[in-house]
Amino acid sequence: MHVVIVKHPDDAADYSAKIFVRQILRDPRSVLGLATGTSPVSLYQELIAAYKAGEISFRDVTTFNLDEYLGLPCMHPQSYQYFMAETLFNHIDINKERTFIPSSNLENTRASCIEYENNITQRGGIDLQLLGIGRNGHIGFNEPSSGLSSRTRVKTLTAETIQDNARFFSTDESQPELAITMGIGTILESKQIVLLATGQAKAQAVVSAIEGPLSVFCPASALQTHVNTVCVLDEAAASLLQHLAFYERIDTDSGNLMFE
Ligand code: GLP
Repeated sequence: MHVVIVKHPDDAADYSAKIFVRQILRDPRSVLGLATGTSPVSLYQELIAAYKAGEISFRDVTTFNLDEYLGLPCMHPQSYQYFMAETLFNHIDINKERTFIPSSNLENTRASCIEYENNITQRGGIDLQLLGIGRNGHIGFNEPSSGLSSRTRVKTLTAETIQDNARFFSTDESQPELAITMGIGTILESKQIVLLATGQAKAQAVVSAIEGPLSVFCPASALQTHVNTVCVLDEAAASLLQHLAFYERIDTDSGNLMFE
């Protein structure tokens, strides 16, 4: 794993956005894996700005989102379908027929999971996958105890995740306790992965993912087995790492080779 530590959350968004811009410039037909949550919002704003500045086009890009709540209608403001439209898709020139999000439909979930996997494969696999991280180390909705080779499937959310995401739901709304998520095995097949984590609340999950043992109890630790993952952290999210000086040295030595 390549660990990049920057000062502020905005710097982390900026660094990650550059990786996405570079990918789209290198291959305008890129297949991108996208994430929801608070973490990617500034990054998406930077991508919108790059599009509006004429720097990049999403015309031929395909996207696959990591996850979706099960049972929420797609027009529900807390559905990830709605979030993606509002936060990114409505502001860029992407063909919405090439934006894929797991189905929230409670019926035929098994078939829709298989179809999602097949769709990713048929489109050549994911070139660049964006990840946030849950406080409990989840990626997508792969909660602790998720199999490290798991595929797209239904997951029961932990009490911690339900509580973390409760801030998005009003008190009279019932919050889903089930989600459909790409598996860890699905995520690990992406050619490149960017994990973006900011803020003190993520520091424990970040240290477990990067320096902890490979364990189903920290699903993000599976990224240790991936050949091309970059963890982009602000100082607060990186604050518990034991080998900070070493990561900074590697980063300096590599002289931002990523952007050459
Ligand atoms: C949700 C999403 C994850 C995301 C996580 C962290 O649970 N399913 O993909 O990484 O939240 O969200 P945030 O960035 O808001 O902390």
